[in-house]
Amino acid sequence: MEKFRRESYMGKNIEPLGEGREKEVFVSPNDPDKVVGIMKESAESAEEAKAEFYLTKILHLLHPELVPDISARTTEPNAVERERVFGGESTFRQNDAVKDGLFALGVKLDSKPSNYIAEADKPARYVDTVKTWLRNGERNYDPDKIREAVAALPEPDRAGALAYLARLEALHAARFPADTV
Ligand SMILES: Nc1ncnc2c1ncn2[C@@H]1O[C@H](COP(=O)(O)OP(=O)(O)OP(=O)(O)O)[C@@H](O)[C@H]1O
Ligand SMILES: [Mg+2]
Repeated sequence: MEKFRRESYMGKNIEPLGEGREKEVFVSPNDPDKVVGIMKESAESAEEAKAEFYLTKILHLLHPELVPDISARTTEPNAVERERVFGGESTFRQNDAVKDGLFALGVKLDSKPSNYIAEADKPARYVDTVKTWLRNGERNYDPDKIREAVAALPEPDRAGALAYLARLEALHAARFPADTV
C-alpha cells in the first residue's frame, strides 16, 4: 500500500512526527489517529514481522494504557502502522510504571526516553517496537504469565489474545526447532 512507502512522504513537505535509529514515523495519511513507521532497513523475515505483530496485539489487549494498538505490519516495504499517542515527554517515574507493568509478563523494554510518551499524569505509553526473542531463541515474554493474565480478560479479547499467542508460539517453534520449551 502507498502509505507504507517512503516515497509517499518525500518531496511533499510532510515532516516526520519522529525519527529513531530504525524508523521514520509519520501521521497516517488517511487516519490522523494512526502513525506509519517506515523502517530504514529491510525486515529480517516475514515471520519475524508477524511475530512482532502478534506480541504487540497481545500486550495491547492486556495493557491498552501502556501499549498502543498495532493495525498493520508489512515487510515489502518494511513498515508498521500503530495507534497514535498524543502526549509529550515523560518522566522516569511514568516510564517505570510501563516497565514494571510489562516486566510482570516477562517483557523487557528499551529504556531510551524517546520510546515513552505520556499524557498528563498518566503512565507513559511505550511507542517503540517490542522485541520478540533473542538470537539464541530466548523469548522476550513469558507465555505462562501471558496465559495467566489473558484468562482474566473479558470475551472476545480473551479468545483473541489466545489465538495471537498460539500463532506467536508456532512462529517461535518454527524459528527455533531445537528448543524444547
Ligand atoms: N505511536 C506513536 N504516536 C506518536 N508518536 C510516535 C509513535 N511512535 C513513534 N512516535 C515518534 O517517533 C519517534 C521514533 O519512534 P520509534 O522509537 O518507534 O523509532 P525507532 O527508530 O524504532 O527508535 P529507536 O532509535 O529507539 O530504535 C518517537 O520517539 C516518537 O517521537
Ligand atoms: Mg525509539
